[in-house]
Amino acid sequence: MSGAIQIVYKNIHVANSHTLAVALENGAYQAAAKALDMKGEEIIEEVKKSGIRGRGGAGFPAGLKWSFIPRSDPRPKYLVCNADEGEPGTCKDRDIIRYDPHMLIEGMIIAGYAVGAKQGYIYIRGEFVREAQILQQAVEDAYQAGYLGDNCLGREVCFHLAVHRGAGAYVCGEETGLIESLEGKKGQPRLKPPFPANIGLYDCPTVINNVETLSSVPAIINNGGEWYGKLGVAKSSGTKVFCVSGHVNRPGNYEVEMGLPLKTLIQQYAGDVRGGWDNLKGVIPGGSSTPVLTKAQCETVTMDYDGLAKAGSMLGAGSVIVLDRSVDIVKAIARLSRFYRHESCGQCTPCREGTGWIAQVMDRLARGQGRKEDIALLEDICANISGKTICALGDAAAMPVLGAIKAFREEFEYLVEHGRSMVG
Ligand SMILES: Cc1cc2nc3c(=O)[nH]c(=O)nc-3n(C[C@H](O)[C@H](O)[C@H](O)COP(=O)(O)O)c2cc1C
Ligand code: SF4
Repeated sequence: MSGAIQIVYKNIHVANSHTLAVALENGAYQAAAKALDMKGEEIIEEVKKSGIRGRGGAGFPAGLKWSFIPRSDPRPKYLVCNADEGEPGTCKDRDIIRYDPHMLIEGMIIAGYAVGAKQGYIYIRGEFVREAQILQQAVEDAYQAGYLGDNCLGREVCFHLAVHRGAGAYVCGEETGLIESLEGKKGQPRLKPPFPANIGLYDCPTVINNVETLSSVPAIINNGGEWYGKLGVAKSSGTKVFCVSGHVNRPGNYEVEMGLPLKTLIQQYAGDVRGGWDNLKGVIPGGSSTPVLTKAQCETVTMDYDGLAKAGSMLGAGSVIVLDRSVDIVKAIARLSRFYRHESCGQCTPCREGTGWIAQVMDRLARGQGRKEDIALLEDICANISGKTICALGDAAAMPVLGAIKAFREEFEYLVEHGRSMVG
């Protein structure tokens, strides 16, 4: 949409934007040239000034994460790009890779240099077959042109990059599960601490960042951290790509400044709710693990970390799933519960048993065979998963269920009482 500032999607409508020739016409690798003439600490300072928070879901400040790497430690350091993108509703990283792989590679050269990593990996979701090919080609072209390798851009800077394809497990998007998988083991998350900044890939200091985070770095270096920090709103600087799906007239990925009202995003960018705004039932604002918002909340909530937290939900990876009034919320969440049951790696009892139990009760309710005590039972199971597991997949399974009960309790109760949904 015209007028909106584009950073990671700035070349998305340019023909052949994935090729090195076109990327160079659009200014690729200028930021890397600038950054490699700076000190690593200076780069980290710029990224800190930008205020950018990780775009993979947890929202941890990127500059701070980079500063945790013990640079004088003699062990090798690694930079890993998380391109697993497995959260239902999320499809933003895929477009960056598809249309601007050199922006990501450039961001990784800068980040790798800043933290002292000589080797980087891009862990890409197994299903992204075409994207992995585009990325591989871009990496080879960057090697050919001398941007990657032993002497990046003619400087005494060594940075190598390899593309690694995953095999389609959501839990491998969790950073420590990803590390295990990258090491060739079963992708099961590790207990934290220790954090990857100290004990990461091959037990060495490792930075893991999301595709969108790393792809924002060239613009931060080109324009300065302060410039980026002024975009968006306090504590949520910069732009964010929102993947708007569900019952809207124009689903798609939209890059906008943080802090945009959700209503504006849906109406002005995504072509409004199918049947008009009044046909809105609710919105899952940040991907399948984030609690659903009611229509009343959608009237005023803004798309930034604090705005969504205040509304009792989360920004997550920025996947906005719009539900119109035809949606049977119990059925919709039951579908998500089946996903989490399937994706639990089974290491922790609360998650392994709890996700199965939730899915079973949600299915029973959705079928109209729920029992009076089922709502309280779900709340109890969720409370016994949340915060009691090795990784956040357990919480991710509990949050949508608790969110739906909170926002649409009457639908759960109606189902139990009447044996059928109050919708349709
Ligand atoms: C179950 C689970 C799945 C995740 N999947 C992804 C993913 O596909 N991509 C991603 O970038 N982060 C994912 N994350 C978050 C990562 O663990 C990690 O926080 C992130 O990659 C760090 O990058 P960032 O700081 O740039 O956001 C996931 C987390 C969990 C708990
Ligand atoms: S919370 Fe679930 S997915 Fe995460 S480690 Fe435990 S069992 Fe595995």
